Amino acid sequence: MSAVLLALYPWTKALHIVAVIAWMAAMLYLPRLYVYHCETKPGSESSERFKVMERRLYKQILLPAMTATFVFGIMLALTPGAVEWDRGWFYVKLAAGLSLAGVHGALGRWRRDFLHDRNARTQRFFRIVNEVPTLLMVVAVVMVVVRPF
Ligand code: HEM
Repeated sequence: MSAVLLALYPWTKALHIVAVIAWMAAMLYLPRLYVYHCETKPGSESSERFKVMERRLYKQILLPAMTATFVFGIMLALTPGAVEWDRGWFYVKLAAGLSLAGVHGALGRWRRDFLHDRNARTQRFFRIVNEVPTLLMVVAVVMVVVRPF
């Protein structure tokens, strides 16, 4: 198993980074759609169009990209030598990754609220939410590249 993971290591890391890019792109775009969706009347043509865009983004990009980020991330963690388990960077990165998964879950709940015309949150709320994945992404990348501790 270790020999296979070591042989695959450069591919696993490349696919992990590709998955992270797709996940972050969708995580930064979906709250933006919610900001504009707040401007539409429930049941209106534009509100129904936003529902289709949000469903496709969530199901066709966000969900597979998060799954791939975790699958390749765990494969990397299991690759001998990829993680220095006695140093703190990996645990802070993992916490940032799990927090991003939490934001992902919340975006799913808020999508269902829009889907059922019961969203009660404001544009301002979703503008603030839009910044959270950016901050967590910066933490994750700095931890794995700089490894400050
Ligand atoms: C939460 C699940 C995750 C796990 C288990 C995980 C695990 C790992 C591991 C073990 C490495 C390899 C380190 C190395 O060999 O150099 C790695 C690389 C990387 N990870 Fe993750 N990761 C996760 C999520 C993320 C997230 C959320 C991001 C960014 C938003 C991210 C960005 C990166 C980048 C950019 C690299 C390449 C670093 C380099 O080439 O030096 N990862 N990840």
